[in-house]
Amino acid sequence: MCGIVGVVGNTNATDILIQGLEKLEYRGYDSAGIFVLGGAENHLVKAVGRIAELSAKTAGVEGTTGIGHTRWATHGKPTEDNAHPHRSETGRFVLVHNGVIENYLEIKEEYLAGHHFKGQTDTEIAVHLIGKFAEEDGLSVLEAFKKALHIIRGSYAFALIDSENPDVIYVAKNKSPLLIGLGDGYNMVCSDAMAMIRETNQYMEIHDQELVIVKADSVEVQDYDGNSRERASYTAELDLSDIGKGTYPYYMLKEIDEQPTVMRKLIQAYTDEAGQVVVDPAIIKAVQDADRIYILAAGTSYHAGFASKKMLEELTDTPVELGISSEWGYGMPLLSKKPLFIFISQSGETADSRQVLVKANEMGIPSLTVTNVPGSTLSREANHTMLLHAGPEIAVASTKAYTAQIAALAFLAKAVGQANGNAKAQAFDLVHELSIVAQSIESTLSEKETIEAKVRELLETTRNAFYIGRGQDYYVAMEASLKLKEISYIQCEGFAAGELKHGTIALIEEGTPVLALLSDPVLANHTRGNIQEVAARGAKVLTIAEENVAKDTDDIVLTTVHPYLSPISMVVPTQLVAYFATLHRGLDVDKPRNLAKSVTVE
Ligand code: G6P
Repeated sequence: MCGIVGVVGNTNATDILIQGLEKLEYRGYDSAGIFVLGGAENHLVKAVGRIAELSAKTAGVEGTTGIGHTRWATHGKPTEDNAHPHRSETGRFVLVHNGVIENYLEIKEEYLAGHHFKGQTDTEIAVHLIGKFAEEDGLSVLEAFKKALHIIRGSYAFALIDSENPDVIYVAKNKSPLLIGLGDGYNMVCSDAMAMIRETNQYMEIHDQELVIVKADSVEVQDYDGNSRERASYTAELDLSDIGKGTYPYYMLKEIDEQPTVMRKLIQAYTDEAGQVVVDPAIIKAVQDADRIYILAAGTSYHAGFASKKMLEELTDTPVELGISSEWGYGMPLLSKKPLFIFISQSGETADSRQVLVKANEMGIPSLTVTNVPGSTLSREANHTMLLHAGPEIAVASTKAYTAQIAALAFLAKAVGQANGNAKAQAFDLVHELSIVAQSIESTLSEKETIEAKVRELLETTRNAFYIGRGQDYYVAMEASLKLKEISYIQCEGFAAGELKHGTIALIEEGTPVLALLSDPVLANHTRGNIQEVAARGAKVLTIAEENVAKDTDDIVLTTVHPYLSPISMVVPTQLVAYFATLHRGLDVDKPRNLAKSVTVE
């Protein structure tokens, strides 16, 4: 999704912007641009496609201050005219923007008659509005920006430059992430700490509806009425060495391979020296006080919620309901008397989830965010946070975050159950069981060649495919099919195996790939019946089974793990299925079309 980076007061401004944009590439984008000033002349450079193409156009672009942007098209096609930065009517004001301005057409009609626009974006209208107030109506830059901010409705992170003044970047935000980075003799602004980590780990957060005046040696936070606001800086715990791809061809493969290590990191993070599970007592109490847990999430994180439901219910004795964030943001169902909202989000920035959290906060509903990114919006705004300790996840297709989410929730379930004296929780030796999961994943990872060969034969040319499973395997089937479709573009659905015959079996024809997941001894027998049904209609079947239910004919056999944790080990071969299918179809594994890593618009 769109990314912003800006720097003020550094003679290497161009390099810093380009390197920052490269760090934002993983979020998904289709065009990019920079504006640099403070040198002999001002430069606006844009390119459709990769940052490498933008970078190739920046020879001789020098200055001390600038803003850059990666655009993921929402209003208007990915063209140079629509790429940011955008300029005001005279070209004096230059703006980059993340988010969506809801009333941009009304603004155009009401204020900007006679203005000429190069593209179709809502952003161009915003910068024309600021330019109008400053140049046609004679307001100061700050007054013009503030006036525009009072008019603009929607989600935004803005970084604004007056091309006549290289000493300042003006920023403002509402519902879209934006941070200030404090450098040595210069300062930065960025939508994602990742893009500034090379320069600094000292950050300052900005709240919604705040405006910040960023200079090389000062940062001033104000509300939209000009009242100053105090803001302390903080040190971010990001490790630059985690970000590189190393010798891996793709981040996705690296991240799949990291999963055993992530399981072990989670054990370290959530146990004490005696090996006892430790979770913040305030979080345990929040669960104990609730009569129902509502898990809100999107995409892969939503599926991780399903995969954790049974474990959470059985160990905490609390019913768990799942909600799709984008549905709940505008329509909450009837809630129980004492709800607890758990937000699962790899990035901690998903706008759909944040929409629900804002409502929950208004309603006084306690909340916990389970996220990989400390200091992210959902983490800051919820009452409690549990971290995933998975390290940065760069590939758009989420892998290690999904498995870490289930494992983190296992620690929560175990800690609450133990505190409540729940017999199953007391008997559940999570640290031991998670170690077995880590070993099971390792042994699956050592079978990559076998998996690759089977996948190639099954999925290299197919148009569609199905995953089936029952119980927890059904939940994994949902995630497995999302993974396959999002990167290989194979149309794939995950089905409850028993439900297949109630309609979808009509789609099975000669050669249709069906991938069956089998882990539960009782349910596996029923799923095997469903496998017979599709095989009889011509389906090509690939079975992935845990040892305790495996037969000689199964294609991929996994070490048996504790049933609560089986979604963690079961999903790993399906991640490899998606990876190899995509590779053999000649597609970019890490950057699938149309998708973004962190979706910061609703
Ligand atoms: C996007 C990504 C998905 C991700 C979803 C939720 O759609 O492409 O991979 O699962 O957002 O993201 P979150 O950061 O909230 O887990």
